[in-house]
Amino acid sequence: MEQKRGSFAGKLSAVLVAAGSAVGLGNIWRFPSLAADNGGGAFLVIYLLCVLLLGVPLIWAEFSVGRSTQLGAVGAYRTLNKRWGFIGYFGVLAAFLLLGFYYVVSGWTLEYFVESINGNLSKYSTPEEYRLLFDSFKTATWKPLLFAWAFILITHFVIAQGVQKGIEKCSNVLMPLLFVILFVMAIHSVLMPGGVEGLKFFFKPDFSAISTGTILAAMGQAFFSLSIGMGCMVTYASYFNRETNLKTTGLQVTMLDSLVAITAGIIIFPAAFSVGIFQAGETPMAGPGLIFITLPAIFNSLPWSMLWSAIFFLLIIVAALTSTISIHEVVAAYLNEEWKIERKWSNWLSTAGMFVVATLASLSLGVLNEVRVFGLTFFDLFDYVTANLLLPIGGFCTSIFVGWVLDKKFLERELTNDGKLGGKIVPVVRFMLRWLCPLIVFAIFLDTMGVI
Ligand code: PHE
Repeated sequence: MEQKRGSFAGKLSAVLVAAGSAVGLGNIWRFPSLAADNGGGAFLVIYLLCVLLLGVPLIWAEFSVGRSTQLGAVGAYRTLNKRWGFIGYFGVLAAFLLLGFYYVVSGWTLEYFVESINGNLSKYSTPEEYRLLFDSFKTATWKPLLFAWAFILITHFVIAQGVQKGIEKCSNVLMPLLFVILFVMAIHSVLMPGGVEGLKFFFKPDFSAISTGTILAAMGQAFFSLSIGMGCMVTYASYFNRETNLKTTGLQVTMLDSLVAITAGIIIFPAAFSVGIFQAGETPMAGPGLIFITLPAIFNSLPWSMLWSAIFFLLIIVAALTSTISIHEVVAAYLNEEWKIERKWSNWLSTAGMFVVATLASLSLGVLNEVRVFGLTFFDLFDYVTANLLLPIGGFCTSIFVGWVLDKKFLERELTNDGKLGGKIVPVVRFMLRWLCPLIVFAIFLDTMGVI
């Protein structure tokens, strides 16, 4: 069935919607725990380099592919060149696995929100108690599962409202609110006694703390956090209009995303040192529980702790939701455009698939913990494989595709809106896509395998 393609209306919407996809659990949950496990400041530096050298050119490349074709990931790559359509399929696969664990963590935030409201979260006091609480929660069978399923359904119903009403409205209101609250919390956290140690850990690079895999993790995180390498930005850009300035939109999204990740670090590290979760001079091991242990401990030190934690977890839910919507949309748009399944049913079909992967990921932390693939639980496997392998490989292919396969004029046309905007930077971007990005990704893979 032919349907009229939706598009984003407002001028700011392109930025807010794309930032909504980029800003999510990647910034608030994944980034701090990776930084904690990989030497703090050193990780931050490598991460920011990856954002600059890989993230910016690739986000522009993906925007160009999506907006020029007005199609979702699979259709977009294939329309530009039949043989390169595989990048799109690759993205759909990545989206699927990624959502598997993403919905589980989103479910945790939902659970913590509910526990904040009913007062359970303020019953504990020491970080150790919060650690126990988190561990017992995530390994349980039904509760985390139900919350993950609930999250899937919420995403489903927002998408069902359509591109403009659902996705755009949600992002426009809630993203700015998130920034404000993050800012307030960062100030509070820095002022906590002993917080300075945390700032030192986060901002003073100690390159001796880097181990094998750190650079790969930083690159994977850059891809993950900017939502690139799997056709998500391609799909969103297909809803941009011809006047959208792709260059500034890409830069603004990258900056907002990095800003939120850094702010999350400024919230979490001072607090973690202040309440004694981390000790000065030690290399902290954090794992996925970091924010679920640190944040409740911060809230406990505040008056009206229940209110603070409820608001904060609500905002993380929102940040996660604007991201799950964007990933879900990659799969739904694919089924809709390629298999010609009506939007309503393509949405349901992707939802059904998500139930399966999310269930596997959630149970793998508890009853299915013994089932390991390459020594990893499904949860860790989905996380590791998507961020560290699939997304970088997808980005690698996109940079080769846009840099080498497509006509020289393609990038110029898209980045200058057919010559209406200045194009001085286009040759630089093209050079980066042809040489720098593929080489960096390749070198990082070789480094991780111990070849260099
Ligand atoms: N960027 C999102 C986050 O940081 C996750 C995401 C990855 C979204 C890939 C879309 C595509 O949470």
